[in-house]
Amino acid sequence: MKTEIYKIDSHHNSEDIQKVAEILKNGGIAAIPTETVYGLAANALDKNAVNKIFEAKGRPNDNPLIVHISSLEEAYPLVRDFPDNAKALADAFWPGPLTVILPKSELVPQEVSPRLDTVAIRMPSHPVARAIIKSAGVPLAAPSANLSGSPSPTKACHVIEDLQGRVDAVVDGGDCTVGLESTVITLATNPPTLLRPGGITPIQLEQVLGKIEIDKAVLEKLEEDAIAASPGMKYKHYSPRAEVYIIKGSFESFCLYVDANAQNDDFALCFNGEEEKLKINSLPYGEEESPTQQAHNLFSLLREVDKKGAGRVFVRCPNICGVGLAVYNRLIRAAAFRVINMPEIYGLTGQTGAGKTTIGNALKEKGWQIIDCDKIARQVVEKGSSVLRKLTEFFGEDIVFDDGSLNRALLAKRAFSTPEGEKALNAITHPAITKVVRDEVLRDKDKYPVFVLDAAMLAQSELWQYCSKTIVVTANEITRLNRIVKRDNISPDAAQMRIKAQPNEQYYKSIADVVIENNGGEISLADIF
Ligand code: TXA
Ligand code: MG
Repeated sequence: MKTEIYKIDSHHNSEDIQKVAEILKNGGIAAIPTETVYGLAANALDKNAVNKIFEAKGRPNDNPLIVHISSLEEAYPLVRDFPDNAKALADAFWPGPLTVILPKSELVPQEVSPRLDTVAIRMPSHPVARAIIKSAGVPLAAPSANLSGSPSPTKACHVIEDLQGRVDAVVDGGDCTVGLESTVITLATNPPTLLRPGGITPIQLEQVLGKIEIDKAVLEKLEEDAIAASPGMKYKHYSPRAEVYIIKGSFESFCLYVDANAQNDDFALCFNGEEEKLKINSLPYGEEESPTQQAHNLFSLLREVDKKGAGRVFVRCPNICGVGLAVYNRLIRAAAFRVINMPEIYGLTGQTGAGKTTIGNALKEKGWQIIDCDKIARQVVEKGSSVLRKLTEFFGEDIVFDDGSLNRALLAKRAFSTPEGEKALNAITHPAITKVVRDEVLRDKDKYPVFVLDAAMLAQSELWQYCSKTIVVTANEITRLNRIVKRDNISPDAAQMRIKAQPNEQYYKSIADVVIENNGGEISLADIF
């Protein structure tokens, strides 16, 4: 089939509108722009034309279509009754991204909503869509103009990719502003039920309707044999070929997950600005605080990652409220419900003798997991370890004792005598420490809500990037001195040397999100967290 392509902007060329309307009146099918996504339109009152839609899309034929109108009067013949609450929704949100489901009249062919006694109606706001409907003079049944299963098209090029040669015409009307399909609400239940979230939010609907229900399928996977209130929600949907994973949690936890898992052909879908901090190929899909931007970009980016040959896509989880509910609803389907819950990760640091361990123990009482990174730093250089072997290659065979264990004093002397030495020491040890910590967090991520990484030199380590908060423990110098003398059984002079070797209190305070003064008095963590 030859597909005619018409470019019609909002100052529409009425001749081309006429031609497309003619195709539709004659039983053809044409992809048209709407403010949500592109739709594949046919005369809703012509069952043969409607059947062509299912064929062109490869759509399961029990998945009903939305009927598009350009004025309110066109809705009345399609339904048995147009109740007051439908009128109120139309007044508030039409034309716009809202679809209303009502019991259907005899006029609507079975093919539009097979086996259902309802019909879905929407009045789009896109000027080109409206002009085409008006000019065709019939309501237009139109699902999204993608091949069934792939992300809905938000640009004409997406439609052409999917449907060229399968439809009579494609109308290029530029990019869709909303970017996700309309909100679908049924008024055939009492109270009304939200079947698909979209650009019109639950709160906006409740302002008009009072209390509404949210269908279970909006946020959860339906059981295999469940009957879907909205059949579209049961199908695999919006999926790129790449495997999508949604990662819930802070950006820092996201980085840990990605660093531990990503391979060369993996991508991240992140919020604006985060791409610079990620080590893998990353595409931003909007400001973290702007679900409308995320909605606008999501489908287009899901197509883009496929073009780039992505293996897996790790996605920052949107805020699940307002339009963000719609973004999340599409994402969980694109991800085949693969959602990874990441714990919070905090850092715990401070000068020696300040009492980090005491605070760590108190945080443990809250059910948090404390990881002693200084202990891990010692473990990775144990006798026979590959890290120790690399250290001897760089710093000399004599940095190990005869029994094979590390001579720390000698290593420290060699490593800290030059900047290159220190750099080499870090380059050999840090990745090994980081890996052990990451593995532990990922292994136990579902057991603890918060992991606390306890390390004296946290801010100098790779681990700091994974901490969404840095807790610094401080104590005055005399208290610290006394604690070190007692704890390590050393002289005050030796303790003083250790204190001097570390960054000062001002430095630690400068990197802190939370400072805990630990001079021996009562500390109420409840006031802090
Ligand atoms: O924004 C949109 O709504 C776009 C543009 C083109 O208008 N259209 C769209 O259509 O997204 P489609 O077919 O991809 O999605 C229609 C959704 C499906 O989930 C379908 O199951 C549901 O609406 N639906 C349609 N009629 C229904 C009915 N009578 N009862 C329950 N669900 C219905
Ligand atoms: Mg669709």
